[in-house]
Amino acid sequence: MSQPSLTLGAFGNGCVGQGFLELLNANGGTAAHVKHVCVKERGRERSIGNATLTYEALDILGDDQVRAIVELTNDPVLALDVIKHALNTGRNAITASKRVVAENLAELIALQRTTGQSLLYEASCAASIPVLRALETHFSGEEVLRIDGILNGTTNYILTKAQEEKISPAEALRQAQEAGFAEADPSSDLSGTDSRYKLVILIAHAFGTIVRPSSILCHGIEGLNAGDLAFGAPNGWSLRLIASAYRSTDGLVAHVLPTFVRSNDAFAFVRNEYNAVRIEGANSGTHLLQGKGAGKLPTGLAVLSDVQQLIRGGGYGYAKVNEQAPVLSGGERRLEVYARIPATHQELLARFDAVRPIDDSKEFVRVTGTIVLDELRALLGEGRDGFQVIALPHLSAKC
Ligand code: HSE
Repeated sequence: MSQPSLTLGAFGNGCVGQGFLELLNANGGTAAHVKHVCVKERGRERSIGNATLTYEALDILGDDQVRAIVELTNDPVLALDVIKHALNTGRNAITASKRVVAENLAELIALQRTTGQSLLYEASCAASIPVLRALETHFSGEEVLRIDGILNGTTNYILTKAQEEKISPAEALRQAQEAGFAEADPSSDLSGTDSRYKLVILIAHAFGTIVRPSSILCHGIEGLNAGDLAFGAPNGWSLRLIASAYRSTDGLVAHVLPTFVRSNDAFAFVRNEYNAVRIEGANSGTHLLQGKGAGKLPTGLAVLSDVQQLIRGGGYGYAKVNEQAPVLSGGERRLEVYARIPATHQELLARFDAVRPIDDSKEFVRVTGTIVLDELRALLGEGRDGFQVIALPHLSAKC
C-alpha cells in the first residue's frame, strides 16, 4: 500500500528553495509534496511545479493540511517566527538557516521538547554532508574528543583558487557569488561568522554543549594578503578556514581561524566549495566526512533528506544535551600562530611568546609565536587594521 504523501509548505524560493523543489519533483520516491510556496518578492517568474504561490505566511500556517514547513528564506526574523509557529501548532519544521538555529538553539530545543514536534536542519551545516545525522545516530553513544571542519564553501573556494590558480580573492568571491555559494551578505562568509554558526550547531550535537555564537573566538580571511598566503608555500602548506572544538582539561575549547595545513593532511585535499568534517571519537578513532558544502543542489539535497527523515519519523534526540556536557572554556590554551602586525603597533609583539621573526617592512612585522586564546580574542577585539593571524599546522594527517 502506498504511503500518504506528506503535505509541506515552503517559505523562500531562492537558490536553496529552487534546488530543493527541483530534487523533490524529480524524485518520485519521496512521499511528500509542496502545497504552497510563500515568497516576498512579487513579479518574478518561478518554477514551482504544482504548488501554489503565495505572499501570505498565513496561507501556509493557517492550512491544516500542511503537516510540516520548510523554511528556506534569507530573513532570520521571519524564519524564527514561522519555525516557532509551526512547532507550536503541531507541525514539524525544516530549516537551512544556520544563523537562526545557532542563535536560538536553547529555545528551539526546549520548544521541540515541550511540543513533541521536530525541527531538522541538516542543510544548515556543511550542506550536503550528512554530519548532523551521523552525530545523532552513529556518534550518539561515543565520546567525541574533537571535531574540526572546513565549514564554509565560499571561503574554501576563494582559498583554493588563490593558491592553485593565483586568482585574486575578489575575483574568486565574484565566482562564488555567481555559483550561488556565498551568502546574500558575503561578509558573513569572509569574517568566519558563517563557519562559527555551523560550529555552534556541531558542538551541540557532538558534545551536548549549547554555546552562544559570540562566545567563540572567530577570525576570518577578509584581511589576508598575498604575503600571508605565500608564507606556507615553501613548506607545502595549504591555507584553510578551520572551525574546531575539542575537549581539554578545563572544558571545551572552540575557535574559527585561518589555518595552515600540511600537504599530507586530508584537509589539504578538500578543494573549492567542498567542505569536510573530521570527528575524533574516544573509542572509534578518527573519521572524515566530506562533500559539497554550498550550492543549490547539494543544499537542496540536504533539505530533501530532512523531508525523508520526517516521513520515516523522528527528529534529533539531543542525547548529549544534559548537565554532563562540558562547558566552553579553554581560554588559557596556547596556540602556535603566524602573525602579521602593523609596523605602527609593534608593542603587540609583547603579547606573544616564543617569537621568531620572519621579516619586516615599512608596513608590517611578521613573526611566528604562541599566544593564549583569551589574549588573542582581546587583541582581535581591539580591531587593529592590518593585524592578521593564521594558526600553524596542529594536526597530523590522520585520514
Ligand atoms: N555561504 C555558505 C557557504 C553557504 O559558502 O558555505 C552554505 O552554508
